[in-house]
Amino acid sequence: MSAIRFDDVWKEYGDHIVLERVTMEVEPRAFIALVGPSGCGKTTLLRMLLGEEQPSRGQILVDGKPLLAEPDADRGVVFQRYSVFPHLTVLQNVMLGREFRDAKFSARLFGAARRAAAADEAMKLLAEVGLAGQESKYPSALSGGMQQRLALAQAIMRGPKILLLDEPFGALDPGIRADIHVLMKRLWNETHLTVVMVTHDLSEAFGLATRVIALERSRNRPEERERYGATVSRDLEIFPRRRAELRSSVQPAPAGTTRSGKEHQPGRPGALVLKEQP
Ligand SMILES: Nc1ncnc2c1ncn2[C@@H]1O[C@H](COP(=O)(O)OP(=O)(O)OP(=O)(O)O)[C@@H](O)[C@H]1O
Ligand SMILES: [Mg+2]
Repeated sequence: MSAIRFDDVWKEYGDHIVLERVTMEVEPRAFIALVGPSGCGKTTLLRMLLGEEQPSRGQILVDGKPLLAEPDADRGVVFQRYSVFPHLTVLQNVMLGREFRDAKFSARLFGAARRAAAADEAMKLLAEVGLAGQESKYPSALSGGMQQRLALAQAIMRGPKILLLDEPFGALDPGIRADIHVLMKRLWNETHLTVVMVTHDLSEAFGLATRVIALERSRNRPEERERYGATVSRDLEIFPRRRAELRSSVQPAPAGTTRSGKEHQPGRPGALVLKEQP
């Protein structure tokens, strides 16, 4: 069963068609990079996945079930900025992730023992994202890269099945980005997450994702822009699915080939035309 399925999804705001005919299936544990020109509806698509927005037509299934109409603990999210709470310390921010999850099950958030166990887990997670020793600081005392690592830790502490990332690393310096990419890969490898990440950076898309999906409008003349929504225009598999990799004891396939030995097109970024809109 696919983790996520879009069945002919449309999103309109009044007369403005933002997305149309979006149909796609995302397999569990995939890492999807969603790319496309500014304004084509990438954030809108993520917000629908989060349950913050409803499709105007069509339906979205998560684990085979229609999506709940509001955000829940199964879906974690990290935005480009402002994902963490400025009035909470680093540790409190991560703990909050767990409280969000547990609030679903009980009115009382924590007994002392559960709270201690969660704090323990939060400290481990903070160490994993390179924030050991920063627990009692407030986000304003952290660099942008540290704040994004904190946001990742908070999202993962929720124990989501699906992690939604909206240009999470867009504002970071290239060096810090590279570090976070390594971290992101590790977190994804160590968990059972299905990731959908919006990015404008094609090297990030092709470097991290198992699949790159491009959204584009079929017609883009200014007078037609609001009458035609964006839809999936490219869907490129980057390397074989992780599950197959896990099952296989074979060493990684040489670059340029898939595990099945088929010739693989190693992410032809040139094939994707991402036009910035005026
Ligand atoms: N709540 C809303 N009401 C009306 N229009 C909206 C709303 N949310 C988004 N839109 C419109 O939908 C279109 C797509 O917006 P969206 O933010 O999804 O684009 P995007 O692909 O994420 O762009 P960017 O790459 O710049 O972040 C825009 O034209 C935007 O104005
Ligand atoms: Mg956006």
